Amino acid sequence: MEEKQDCQCDGDKGCNCESEKNGCNCDEEKAGCNCEDEKNDAHSGDSKKGIKKLTINNFSSVKNVIAIMSGKGGVGKSSVTSLLASGFRKRGFEVGVLDADLTGPSVPKMFGIKGMAKGNDFGILASESSTGIKVMSINLLVPREDDPVIWRGPILANTVKQFWTDVIWGDLDYLFVDLPPGTGDVPLTVMQSIPLDGLVIVTSPQELAVMIVNKAIKMAKQLDIPILGLIENMSSAVCPKCGEEFQLFGPGHSKEISDRFCIPFLGSMPVDPFLAKLCDHGKVEEYYHNLFINFIPDRFVGSRKNQDKSDNER
Ligand SMILES: Nc1ncnc2c1ncn2[C@@H]1O[C@H](COP(=O)(O)OP(=O)(O)O)[C@@H](O)[C@H]1O
Ligand SMILES: [Mg+2]
Ligand SMILES: [Zn+2]
Repeated sequence: MEEKQDCQCDGDKGCNCESEKNGCNCDEEKAGCNCEDEKNDAHSGDSKKGIKKLTINNFSSVKNVIAIMSGKGGVGKSSVTSLLASGFRKRGFEVGVLDADLTGPSVPKMFGIKGMAKGNDFGILASESSTGIKVMSINLLVPREDDPVIWRGPILANTVKQFWTDVIWGDLDYLFVDLPPGTGDVPLTVMQSIPLDGLVIVTSPQELAVMIVNKAIKMAKQLDIPILGLIENMSSAVCPKCGEEFQLFGPGHSKEISDRFCIPFLGSMPVDPFLAKLCDHGKVEEYYHNLFINFIPDRFVGSRKNQDKSDNER
């Protein structure tokens, strides 16, 4: 993966590689921005400028938090989140998925996790998938998975925050956050309160991808969160009979967009009926794919370990 710092873009294309930001820009409508300087980031000991992050509980430690965002629902954000988590788990990492999409939670279903999450005196225990991925979702806290969550924005935002502060995750190398679609209030609150190390953007050809990416870049820049890459979903299809892959809407534009915005292109995912079937049956972990193989996580863990080390030495 190309590191953002190495990017040679001249900066006028919306690339956020030059860090001209050295203070909180909470001038505008960013209600809820806590720009006091004293940072309290137990997650990493590493403060993101100008934004006060929430502290995780004493029973959890998470080395890297990666959020998955999209412009709208239905583009495959939860599928990508689940596949990323499964892929990293297969590589031997300790992995969790925080389902921040409270009004459209689908992560437990994809992993086949049923029943309510358990709790103890210290917090809520994350449920576990068949391969040992820790999962927390609103669906694991309501008696019936088809109960709708009809709450207003502030309650939604607080609930998601509690997924970070009150859930016992244990020791994780990677926590993937399935963000609600769009760039509205709830995703903004999540991005402001949870110490994210990076964002992955999922687009589909039906979306106005340029606009979505533009918005996402602006938001990420404001919040000082690096964009790790772009994934294009559903631009091609796999024939269920012979397995051949063909373009559904002509050539995709994500590669072009990723070049234009200086964002690494992590790959495209064809429409595959087998994936849909596995998701429906709670067996997403069984999907074989070689997506995201260039998405090198080790470097991330390595840098965080070094960070911890230098923190300790201080
Ligand atoms: N590449 C794909 N091939 C087949 N089905 C897919 C693919 N991506 C997503 N789906 C299906 O489309 C539906 C919506 O995907 P989902 O990941 O829930 O989207 P989102 O989280 O963006 O709303 C799900 O039923 C999922 O199984
Ligand atoms: Mg979803
Ligand atoms: Zn065929």
